[in-house]
Amino acid sequence: MTVGDAARELRFVLNGAPQRLESVAPTMTLQEYLRDVKGLTGCKEGCAEGDCGACTVAVGALRKDGGPEAGIVWRPMNACILFLPMLHGKAVVTVEGLRTEGGALHPAQSAMVATHGSQCGFCTPGIVMSLYVARHEDRHAAQDGRDGVSRAEIGDILAGNLCRCTGYGPIYEAAERMFSTPLPEGDLSARAGDAKAVAAMADERPLYLASAEGVWSAPTRFTDAAAFAKDNPDATVVAGATDVGLWVTKQLQPMDKILYLGRLSDAGAVEATPEGGLRLGAAATYADAEAAIADRWPDFGELLRRLGSRQVRSAGTIGGNIANGSPIGDTPPALIALGATLVLRHGEAQRRLPLEEFFLDYGKQDRRPGELVEAIEIPAGGDLLRCYKLSKRFDQDISAVCGCFNLTLEAGMVTGARIGFGGMAATPKRAAAVEQALIGQPWTEATVTAALAAFAEDFAPISDMRASADYRLLSARNLLRKYFIETTQPQTHTRLAAASPLEALDA
Ligand SMILES: Cc1cc2nc3c(=O)[nH]c(=O)nc-3n(C[C@H](O)[C@H](O)[C@H](O)COP(=O)(O)OP(=O)(O)OC[C@H]3O[C@@H](n4cnc5c(N)ncnc54)[C@H](O)[C@@H]3O)c2cc1C
Ligand code: FES
Ligand code: FES
Repeated sequence: MTVGDAARELRFVLNGAPQRLESVAPTMTLQEYLRDVKGLTGCKEGCAEGDCGACTVAVGALRKDGGPEAGIVWRPMNACILFLPMLHGKAVVTVEGLRTEGGALHPAQSAMVATHGSQCGFCTPGIVMSLYVARHEDRHAAQDGRDGVSRAEIGDILAGNLCRCTGYGPIYEAAERMFSTPLPEGDLSARAGDAKAVAAMADERPLYLASAEGVWSAPTRFTDAAAFAKDNPDATVVAGATDVGLWVTKQLQPMDKILYLGRLSDAGAVEATPEGGLRLGAAATYADAEAAIADRWPDFGELLRRLGSRQVRSAGTIGGNIANGSPIGDTPPALIALGATLVLRHGEAQRRLPLEEFFLDYGKQDRRPGELVEAIEIPAGGDLLRCYKLSKRFDQDISAVCGCFNLTLEAGMVTGARIGFGGMAATPKRAAAVEQALIGQPWTEATVTAALAAFAEDFAPISDMRASADYRLLSARNLLRKYFIETTQPQTHTRLAAASPLEALDA
């Protein structure tokens, strides 16, 4: 790629109106643009870190698995941590864009009014937008007023929207009412218009924006991204910005050169390998990957469902989760337990390593300046994978401890063991001593009890605001017991049955 080949103008659609910007600061957020430039103040700033959902908007992008004629997919995203240039070639709808012909409220709004779901008005626009996007997602858009959404699913839809005043009861009722109301013709035609506009602006060229505040480089092929990263090791790599966004909004870090991976057409794929495993391109978002993962490893799927919120999973990537190297990132323990291989690229040089070897120490990964995560390869197998996330809040919370177990059993004997933990050390870490205590032993309670001591060989956890060291060590041991029960006594109830707290209370 040369800069001369690149598009030099940021283009996207906002509430049906085309936007064109030549000069834009690379770290300007969508929220700043909406509120400060466009005066669209329905996008509220609650936390500015992706947690509260008050800034939720709908973002429509061309499907990755089809040409422009395949239509667009709508996702909820947090405008507060979305950099404006990430929207190139996309459509955005804010709460102001929901009004239908004649000014009538959209069903996502009128249902909130009818059920008294709205109290303070600060979080209501974000809640309305989460409901709105859910109504427009593939599996619901085709429904013409069919009532078929479970309370658990509504809980998942709303997990990224915090309301602290009224309780969620009326909001759940609003969701049910909205899903059973047909979408107004005006709304459907407005979104069809967005799809047409996005298809018309489809552009294979990279985007290169330069302003007094810095440079935004968004190649469309991975080889170009790798070359740029090698030549510019000082550039900040951005995939979904669900970590990097906070460096800007909370830590006020200056960033004047950004390499954005979200436009790579050849690094966003989630592909089955010929051997039955899965290959995740570094730019694949959680939303892109979660169905394929849940299909093969249901417990890993549930772990992803509890990672952040729909807003976070719509933007964030597993590649970013790994590259960030946090000791409490949720995907490394599961991927380590599955025996995943990390593919790294520095310019044209590619190398592969077992994922657990990537994490060297706190904040230190085996990645040289200018080297990119290219893909994650997960082998077939893992039928006995179980993932356990312990967090103070069930949904949308960071793990205190995350333990993932994957044993191979033959004729009642443990013939293989891979166990990955987060929150127990300075990095995500394999429980090598515990594995050794299990391998070659019969899969019995006595073996489990004998192996518990090995946790202290593998881990010396710290106490922090999420959990004490004692709690972490004790719960890690108890998770092995739980894994034993789940793999030997499937009739025993070991899990909360429902995603929605209301449903759990009802039960
Ligand atoms: C509200 C909220 C809730 C969250 N909840 C959870 C949670 O429950 N569990 C959890 O694990 N995480 C959670 N996160 C953290 C975050 O969503 C994940 O770490 C996410 O996977 C990061 O991916 P990203 O694409 O957004 O990365 P970015 O923010 O774009 O980048 C993250 C880091 O990785 C680097 N990077 C990204 N891609 C590459 C690449 N291909 N090659 C080299 N470097 C790269 C970036 O330079 C940066 O250092 C949460 C975040 C928010 C805002
Ligand atoms: S302002 Fe709280 S998620 Fe954006
Ligand atoms: S509606 Fe704002 S706190 Fe509940």
